[in-house]
Amino acid sequence: MSRVLLGTRNDGKIAEVQELLAGLAGLEFLTSSQVPFSQVEETGTTFLENALLKARAIGEETGLPVLAEDAGLEVPALGGDPGVRSARYAGEPVDYGKNNELLLRRLAAVDDRRARFVAVAALRIPDGQIFVATGVLCGRVARVPSGAGGFGYDPLFVPNGEERTLAELSLHNKNQISHRRRAIGRIRWVLEDLVSTGEL
Ligand code: IMP
Repeated sequence: MSRVLLGTRNDGKIAEVQELLAGLAGLEFLTSSQVPFSQVEETGTTFLENALLKARAIGEETGLPVLAEDAGLEVPALGGDPGVRSARYAGEPVDYGKNNELLLRRLAAVDDRRARFVAVAALRIPDGQIFVATGVLCGRVARVPSGAGGFGYDPLFVPNGEERTLAELSLHNKNQISHRRRAIGRIRWVLEDLVSTGEL
């Protein structure tokens, strides 16, 4: 049985990723509660840079295969904000409610409410190989928050083809369409291949 460490402390992400990777033969996924690791400064200017920073730093610190991920919301009418600053849009410490309030304020007089979630997943194995995959979910920002599920901007995000926000969907239903599902789903194929070749 090979072990892969999930390189995040975000409980919302951990729950989603654990469901997305369930049932992979020969692999066990560990979290920071089983293998603690240091906080990684997210100094990159893109999701890709931050995903790579986390995968490398946590992989080098623990010596384990690491699956890291960086994600956020991009709003074209705001020049791509909150973007890589999604977690800390309204400042430190991370506060999802304040982030959502700020986003609504910035969009108060804006009709173009298109938005997309982007996730970049980076898998690093101890011999230094790195595998990357991206996933995108397009939708719009609602005028008021609804729903109690999910995390982050979920109460404000209505995916294309849906009337409900992501926070009104079950974790399972969010996981069928989300940006994270697309990124992690693609990495799932890589994990299966690495197990079959004995590289993992
Ligand atoms: P990260 O932990 O640096 O990747 O920051 C992710 C931030 O982007 C979170 O704190 C949320 O604010 C936002 N975000 C990323 N993915 C999602 C999602 O699936 N739903 C809602 N917000 C998300």
